[in-house]
Amino acid sequence: MCGIVGAVSNQNIVPILVQGLARLEYRGYDSCGVAVYANGLKRARSTARVSELMAQIATTHLQGTTGIAHTRWATHGAPAVHNAHPHFSHGPGADASSRPGRIALVHNGIIENHDELRASLQAKGYLFQSQTDTEVICHLVDSLYDGDLFEAVKAALGSLRGAYAIAVFCKDEPHRLIGARVGSPLILGVGPDSQSHYLASDAMALAGVTDQIVYLEEGDVADIQLGKYWLVDKAFKPLTAAQRPVKTVHAHSGAAELGPYRHYMQKEIFEQPRAIADTLEGVTSIQPELFDGADASAARVFKDIDSVLILACGTSYYSGCTAKYWLESIAKIPTQVEVASEYRYRDSVPNPRTLVVTITQSGETADTLAALRHAQSLGMTHTLTICNVATSAMVRECELAYITRAGVEIGVASTKAFTAQLAGLFLLTLALAQSRGMLSDTEEARHIKAMRHLPAALQAVLALEPQVIAWAEDFAAKENALFLGRGMHYPIALEGALKLKEISYIHAEAYPAGELKHGPLALVTSAMPVVTVAPHDALLEKLKSNMHEVRARGGVLYVLADADSKIESAEGLHVIRMPEHYGELSPMLHVVPLQLLAYHTACARGTDVDKPRNLAKSVTVE
Ligand code: G6P
Repeated sequence: MCGIVGAVSNQNIVPILVQGLARLEYRGYDSCGVAVYANGLKRARSTARVSELMAQIATTHLQGTTGIAHTRWATHGAPAVHNAHPHFSHGPGADASSRPGRIALVHNGIIENHDELRASLQAKGYLFQSQTDTEVICHLVDSLYDGDLFEAVKAALGSLRGAYAIAVFCKDEPHRLIGARVGSPLILGVGPDSQSHYLASDAMALAGVTDQIVYLEEGDVADIQLGKYWLVDKAFKPLTAAQRPVKTVHAHSGAAELGPYRHYMQKEIFEQPRAIADTLEGVTSIQPELFDGADASAARVFKDIDSVLILACGTSYYSGCTAKYWLESIAKIPTQVEVASEYRYRDSVPNPRTLVVTITQSGETADTLAALRHAQSLGMTHTLTICNVATSAMVRECELAYITRAGVEIGVASTKAFTAQLAGLFLLTLALAQSRGMLSDTEEARHIKAMRHLPAALQAVLALEPQVIAWAEDFAAKENALFLGRGMHYPIALEGALKLKEISYIHAEAYPAGELKHGPLALVTSAMPVVTVAPHDALLEKLKSNMHEVRARGGVLYVLADADSKIESAEGLHVIRMPEHYGELSPMLHVVPLQLLAYHTACARGTDVDKPRNLAKSVTVE
């Protein structure tokens, strides 16, 4: 998704801006650009990769001490150079080329009232060069500019509806940069020399430049100049350093190294034993305190709830679907799971005794944040997040939190963040079970032992990679695939299908195996591989009947079975035997071969695994 980097310095900041964009590439984008002040506004833009933008800059010798840069993920207007940010204001006047721009601006988010703003600016003589919603902000600031950019931006914000993080500068005040945010993340970085200051959508963009970060909150506006900066809140009231403290943030610049792996996704799949070990580090017993928030006690909250509502998007939603099985069977607490973008807009019946659990790798997903706020507005104040980014908006806005320690995830298709979320959700299940008197000491000890062994168990599953590669060779030639699972492995089948479709572009769907004969069986032929997650659990015999239904129609089965599932390979039946049956935690192991299957199938088809077409890592727009 879109990324922003901006800087004011006494040195050429173009290398920092462009390296910042390179660090944000993992979020997904389709064009990029950089603009600086150099005796006027100058820019370079590209619809290729950041590396191509770097080559352009090397040729044109673009340099400057104030500038902004952007990676764009198209929402309004196709991916094209004229739609790429930064945008410049033109006019007002009939001939844009005769009126060199004075405002340069980049934007993440969506301006909902852009049509009406465009019409009123066109009426004033502004000429539009792009189809973006962003360009209206640029001209709007220009129309309100009267020698003070901070005042012009503040005035413009009052007319904007929607979500935005912006960074803007003006050629008439070349050592000043203004940033503002509503609904999209923005941070301010203080350079080691305290002279240079930066803006970015993500601390990762500034890794290696500065670790001194100020997190802007909803509605904040930043006025950044050489050697100083000011912040105001949404009412434009000045903020003190205590209200928006500078925090030291280690943004893992090392995470960008691929090491021996071909892609970040592969690296991240193989990092899962470490991610789970880190996420569970120090957990030697189940304590509600594991979930305490900055100002709230989980023990108190857990006593005050009678149900759970899980809200999430994408892969995080599937971890929530898996957790529902745990929460209802182990903690015996009624649990509902909803896609955040649906929940936020539907009429629902609020229960103030519900614990609202958001699950999000990034902590910045727009729909999940909006769903949380919607639940809060309905009077559901008990909120908890399972999140991978401790400094994210989600962690700041939830009462309680469990921070997973998967580390930075670069591949757009989530892998290690998913299993780390499952680890956090399993702990939450046990903590709620304990709080409700459903967890004996013996059971607690058994579960802790199983969790401690997870990294080793994951390592053993990763060793199955060569067998999965053999499956992937078959899948690479297919255009459709069906995934089946039952019980708590049904969400794992869903996740397996999602992984395959997002990175290999093979159409894949998942069904609870019992539903097979209610529709998908009609699709089964020898051209439709059927992946079956078949652990040795209470539903295995039922699942075997479903597998017979597939084979009887000439379908080819690819089965993940435990050692004691008693399913043998045969004509049209391929079996990978998982090392051990892992009880309640089995979903965490079974998802791994499915991640590898998607990965190797995508590699065999030659797709851009880490940056699949049209997708973004962090979806900060609705
Ligand atoms: C995007 C990503 C997915 C992710 C989803 C939710 O679609 O590509 O990998 O699962 O957003 O993101 P979150 O950060 O909230 O977990």
